[in-house]
Amino acid sequence: MRSELMEILTLDILNAVINSIKYSDLERYNSIKARVFLSLLIGKEIDETMVFKIFMASLLKEIGEIGGENKGVYKSTEIIRGIPEILPFQYEIADIILESEERLDGSGAPSGKKEILKEAQIIGIVCDYLKNNDIEEMVENKRKYNEKYLEVLKEILEMEKNIKILRDEEELEKVLRRNIKKYNVYKEKIEGVEEEQFLTTIASMIDAKDVYTGGHTKRVASYSYLIAKELNYSEEKLSKIRYAAYLHDIGKLAIDGEILNKPGKLTKEEFEAIKLHAKYSFLILWDSPTLRQISFAALHHEKLDGTGYPMGFKKGWIPEGSQVIAIADILDALTSNRSYRQPLTFNEAFKIMEEMVGISFEKRLFEAAKICFGVG
Ligand SMILES: [Fe+2]
Repeated sequence: MRSELMEILTLDILNAVINSIKYSDLERYNSIKARVFLSLLIGKEIDETMVFKIFMASLLKEIGEIGGENKGVYKSTEIIRGIPEILPFQYEIADIILESEERLDGSGAPSGKKEILKEAQIIGIVCDYLKNNDIEEMVENKRKYNEKYLEVLKEILEMEKNIKILRDEEELEKVLRRNIKKYNVYKEKIEGVEEEQFLTTIASMIDAKDVYTGGHTKRVASYSYLIAKELNYSEEKLSKIRYAAYLHDIGKLAIDGEILNKPGKLTKEEFEAIKLHAKYSFLILWDSPTLRQISFAALHHEKLDGTGYPMGFKKGWIPEGSQVIAIADILDALTSNRSYRQPLTFNEAFKIMEEMVGISFEKRLFEAAKICFGVG
């Protein structure tokens, strides 16, 4: 199954995942922008045909570290290989990432190999430069690097306008945005791809971050879809709800995994930190003109009485879609295993939720949910 939205959203979702780094680790996000900028400049100088692969690999290199487990390039490679074929040269891009920490003298990782893809060598040089900002030391250590690529980097760094961009976060952001737009080739390539598989990959990344709620995102997506169907939404609206539900907790990618997974009671500060995930979801979705149309996803913790978060919106301001996701979210929280209690049955959960009607969500939506789960 493939929806209209899928055509435009794939790149945006990958980009949103990268964007989540901005809120959790600004320094790293800025270094990704710098890496993309310098790698592209070298690539353009060496061989124009490598540029697309260099761009993608340098952008997505850390995608595997977002899920909370620090498995570096292995995990990134696995994720990129695992998504349906949405990227041209997808498998080559995965290989480039895998080899981007290898060095020509065998001193790199993970395998210490000396024969390295050209694109990976370029990204590797840029990464090493950004670590120490010392090109002279790299020239001394030149057995590690391709001499020509290193020379090109040196020339690039001698140009004042490049240094100016490199020191200006906003300029780097512009470079990144421009290139994301330029290389948005996914539209043509997405045909025939099963969107479920792609969304599931993203959902797994979100769920991996929060180990207690394993599979939560996927269940919320399917519950939300069922409730929306019961409400007779149009195909387009149904598709939006599904996407929104898959991405409702994307802001968790920006939350410290240790707090998210802390066993036992949370302090007030820790609870406030976790609540930030909704705000981050909103910022991440709002950041992209296409994902903005599903930014209502981030309002799944709002309440009709205005006591929810992140906005504290009241009845009339909380979109129906957000409330549908809220119902699905609460339903799953109550019916799945938690460290501190046994899962409730659906009947028990609906009974508890009855008391939230008019406070957390509207009655009409709750009634629709009851019908789809055969309760009441
Ligand atoms: Fe949430």
